[in-house]
Amino acid sequence: MINNTRDSYGVISKSLHWVSGLTIIALFALGFWMVDLSYYSQWYKTAPHWHKSLGILLLALTIIRLLVKAKQEKVLAIASHSNLVKKTSSFTHKALYLLMVSVFVSGYLISTADGRAIEVFDWFSVVSLGAFVDNQEDLAGIIHRYVAYSLIALALLHAMAAIKHHLIDKDDTLKRMLK
Ligand code: HEM
Repeated sequence: MINNTRDSYGVISKSLHWVSGLTIIALFALGFWMVDLSYYSQWYKTAPHWHKSLGILLLALTIIRLLVKAKQEKVLAIASHSNLVKKTSSFTHKALYLLMVSVFVSGYLISTADGRAIEVFDWFSVVSLGAFVDNQEDLAGIIHRYVAYSLIALALLHAMAAIKHHLIDKDDTLKRMLK
């Protein structure tokens, strides 16, 4: 089915989840690799350009995702889960969204601190609002790095929990996000 029901995720939510997840992993790997590139590397300019472009596209996708989530039926927790599991997973999902938004905002604040717009794959550009605080580029850079680490760590725990539900508890948690 296209849309969510009380018991399962629809194709739209599933696609948004997996495309976002894969893009976040790709962006993390790209970001981790590009910060150590030397000025003489052929990727010195291209890698940050791709990182920023993909980041803006993911931001747009995440806004769509949150709108879709608000419009669609809420998928209920699986009945066999304990209250603690229900509360922990609901908290984790909210934290994942919050960390995603924080990485976007801090990334935007790094790239636009010098007043320059972000060129998204030379298709369109996102305007700069300039610097809001002194030393914005460095400050936002530190936040961006540690929030990105936290996002990846939490996403890893989240994935391990989904796999544990599938392999050990043998419930439908993972199936309803896949099938
Ligand atoms: C960067 C990677 C990932 C991020 C940021 C992420 C984020 C999220 C978020 C925000 C939700 C809540 C969806 C909603 O109801 O609004 C969710 C649900 C879910 N995710 Fe992920 N996810 C990631 C990777 C994975 C991986 C690798 C797996 C599996 C191995 C997975 C399995 C699931 C499952 C099964 C659900 C549904 C949980 C439920 O029904 O309660 N996710 N994910």
